[in-house]
Parts: sequence; structure tokens; C-alpha cells
Amino acid sequence: MKKPILLAALIAALSFSAVGSPAVLAKSTETAHNQWDHKFEQIVSKRINVDNIYNNIDYLSKTPRVAGTESENKAVEFINSQFKKYGYKTEIQEFKFIGYTPPDTVELSVDGFSGDLHPGAFTFSVNGDVSGALVNAGLGKKDELQNLDLTGKVAFIKRGEIPFAEKVLNAAEKGAVGVVIYNNVDGPLNGTLGTANDKYVPAVSLSKSEGESLASLLNNGQTLTAALTIAGAESGERTSHNVIATKPPTSKKKSTNEIIVLGAHHDSVAGAPGANDDASGTAMTLELARVLKSIPTDTEIRFITFGAEEEGLLGSRHYVNNLPEDQLNRIVANFNLDMVGSKDAGDLIMLTLDGKPNLVTELAQASSTRFNGQPTPYAQGGRSDHVAFAEVGIPAALFIHDPVEPWYHTPDDTIDKISKEKLQDVAEIVSAAIYDRAKYDIKWPKPKKSKKQKAEELYYEQSIK
Ligand code: BES
Ligand code: ZN
Repeated sequence: MKKPILLAALIAALSFSAVGSPAVLAKSTETAHNQWDHKFEQIVSKRINVDNIYNNIDYLSKTPRVAGTESENKAVEFINSQFKKYGYKTEIQEFKFIGYTPPDTVELSVDGFSGDLHPGAFTFSVNGDVSGALVNAGLGKKDELQNLDLTGKVAFIKRGEIPFAEKVLNAAEKGAVGVVIYNNVDGPLNGTLGTANDKYVPAVSLSKSEGESLASLLNNGQTLTAALTIAGAESGERTSHNVIATKPPTSKKKSTNEIIVLGAHHDSVAGAPGANDDASGTAMTLELARVLKSIPTDTEIRFITFGAEEEGLLGSRHYVNNLPEDQLNRIVANFNLDMVGSKDAGDLIMLTLDGKPNLVTELAQASSTRFNGQPTPYAQGGRSDHVAFAEVGIPAALFIHDPVEPWYHTPDDTIDKISKEKLQDVAEIVSAAIYDRAKYDIKWPKPKKSKKQKAEELYYEQSIK
């Protein structure tokens, strides 16, 4: 059970702005409790300076911040220095992963086909300069390839049913020197083979319409020869980082022993400045760290920006997998801010891995109701760092606007698409939700009609103003 502390201590810590008249204490204890708590959470939210968030997004989104590159390192240094400026002790947690530098050359020419082709590479596609007869290999499943001789040929495969990597490996096993995979939905195909593998042969992607044009020629019995070139790709070990700032409970004696993690990922995909994805969450994490720094709390709060989220949630998984058991057991909530400020996205939503409510959604539904009169809805969703926490049983939710903006993962994810109103709204809801759980539980004074009580009320009023 949380222990009550002296009201005066809290008031002293927050004594910088008006919170209205404490006459509310004269109603019932319960009403007084709620109203005072709400006053204090408003003090916390009033401290949020949305320009700080906006300016830090602007700073971070000058270039993409691909994990393992110099630009990620710069972002990490900046985040670390901001945390330190706010008075935090920080830790930069390093981890290694196998990364991929995309090719500078991707070419495909098909003899016997007169149309234009715009081939793309998969993440982890290997370099090579190969040619051979183009052979229709269906979906590239093992049973489909059983009676096909692909030796020295280029396998022509449709997207679907099994992962791209499996299609490439199945074709390579049957002797193919190259693979062309075409989309089964409109638009270009930007896929990943998941991991590096020595057994891959060069593989390129085509759009659905390009693929269907080639497929109809092959189905009509035409002979096509494909020449395929991928150059400049490189896969190898990279180093990424998580940045961790810790706010210990204000008093060791009064600590609940619980930990709340507020986090965001600071990396971006290649070619995207990632203003919304996820400089927005990173900058908001920084601002909430600043705001909460001097607020008395009985719960530890960890502010973490994760690296290599875009490479497969690597930073958050590294963090969770390397936590000592006792710390893991003490984390009661993970608030994940990922894409929290786009003008062109829909309304705020919370996504949980299992689609069920948990402590995070409950706290945020309560705070959003207090601020906006309506609870922020929740739904099922993964695809970000909250997954790493949810997988080990920690209540976790992603804060995101739904539907997402059209600039997601594009070069147009830039600062001019960021809305200060959206940032303010999310920052208020999340800071109040965290404060609600982490604040000292005050045993509010019972209202008495005595003179002594009146004097106390005056004292509180003066202290708070
Ligand atoms: N910010 C996105 C997550 C996202 C986007 C969630 C749209 C819901 C809707 C995140 O940075 C991302 O792009 N994640 C990857 C998956 C990850 C495991 C590499 C994705 O969704 O492709
Ligand atoms: Zn993201």
C-alpha cells in the first residue's frame, strides 16, 4: 500500500503557480481528493512547452537517422545531452546487430519484353550480375518447384503465402541464379528478406502490373531471358544504442518499488527524415522528462529512446532481454510514443498487443476523459516497441494517430507536417496518466468547519500561489 505523505511537502514542491481556491476542501473528502489531484495534474501539464517538442523534432529530423549510422549516433548524443541538461543521470546502452546498406545499382532487363521495368531490391538482397531464362515458378513454394529445373535460370515468382526469403532460398536450392518477385497488390514492392544469408541469390522486386505483363507473355509460351544486376549492397555488423534517463522515486523510504517506462524510438528508415516517425515520440519523451524532473513521485520513471526499432524492434528487445529479473518484475507500465504529431493523421488511439485494456490504457483513458471529456479509444496493434514489453507480460500500449499519414516512411515525413495541437494533446494525456500513477498518494485533510481548518486552508492557498 502506498503511504500518505504530508500535503505541505507536495505543495512546497509545486509552489509556483495558482491552482485555484482550496475551498473545494469544504465539500467531501472524495471530491476534494479528485479536485486537488486534478489541480496538480494541471500544474504538471501546464509545464509542457510544446515549442520545446516542436523544436527538438525540427532538430532531429534534418536527416534520416538509420540505426548504426553516424546520423543515429548524432541523435543519440543530442538526446543524451538534453536528458543531462534536465538534470538526469543517463546510460547509453550499446548493442550490435546485422544491418544492411541498400545497393546503389538495381537493374533488370528482359529480352523479348519491350515495356519499362522498375526493379527494386529487398532488404538483404545480395549483389550479383546474373542472367538466364525467366521461368514461372508460381509462389515459389517447395512443392511447386519440385518438378522444375531452375539450374542457371531466373525464377519468376508471385508475392504471397510464404515469406520472400523462403521463395529466394527455395529457388536457389533448385539451382536458380536469380529471382524476380512481383507484387500481388497494386504499387511497388518494398520487402525484406529478414536477415542476411549466404545462400541467397540476387533477388529483385517488380510492381503488380509489371509482373502481370511478364506473366502473360510467359503463359503464352514466349521465351524470355532476364539479366539482373545488384551492386553496392552491403550487410554486416552495426552498432546502435538505447538512451536511458532515470528518475528515482523522490524518497527511498516512501517508494512503491514500481517502475514506469516512457519510451519512443529515435531511429528512422532510410530516406525518411522521420519527423513524425519517430522524432515526435522522442522529442515528447524528452519534454515529459523535463516536466516531471522536479515533481515528487513515489514511483521510478525511466525515459528511454530506443535504437533500431525500424530494423525489427531491436533496441527495445535488447533492453528487455538484458534487464535483471527483479527490475523486469517491477515495471508496471510501458507508454510507447510512436508517431504522435502528424497534421495529416487521424485521431489518437492506443494499441495493445493483445487488443485488451491494461494499466496503461486505463490510466490514459481516465486522463483523456479529464482533459477532453472523452476516453482515448484502444485497439489491437503491434509494430512498435511496446511489443517487446507486452511479450514479457508488462502492461504496454502504443500511442499513435489512426489512420496514419500518407508520408509514413517517405521523404515527406518532415517538420512542416507536424501539428503542435496534436503534440500538446498527447503530451497532456500521457503526462497526466503517468503522474496519476507515480504521484504521492495524499491522504487529503478531512474538511472541518473549525477555525483551525480555515487557517490551514489559507496556508495551502498561499503556498500554492
Ligand atoms: N511507427 C511504425 C509503427 C506503425 C506504423 C504502427 C503504422 C502502426 C501503424 C514503426 O516505426 C514501424 O514502421 N514499424 C515497422 C515494423 C517493425 C517491426 C520493423 C512496420 O510497421 O513496418
Ligand atoms: Zn515508428
